[in-house]
Amino acid sequence: MVLQNVCTRMGCQTGWNDSLGTWDCPCHGSRYHPDGTVLMGPAAEPLPRLEHRLENGEIMIG
Ligand code: FES
Repeated sequence: MVLQNVCTRMGCQTGWNDSLGTWDCPCHGSRYHPDGTVLMGPAAEPLPRLEHRLENGEIMIG
């Protein structure tokens, strides 16, 4: 699974929170599970999943 780390509320870039193991949005505090589902709003939609494939050991997006 490959996620786009852009918050679904207003498009801020989320960052990985090592201590909690979550994707956190710095703009308004949304928090996402590692699988992209929303743990805490205001975001209501999960992080988008990106189509991907493996080619020669590398992840290719799209
Ligand atoms: S843009 Fe992410 S919570 Fe507002």
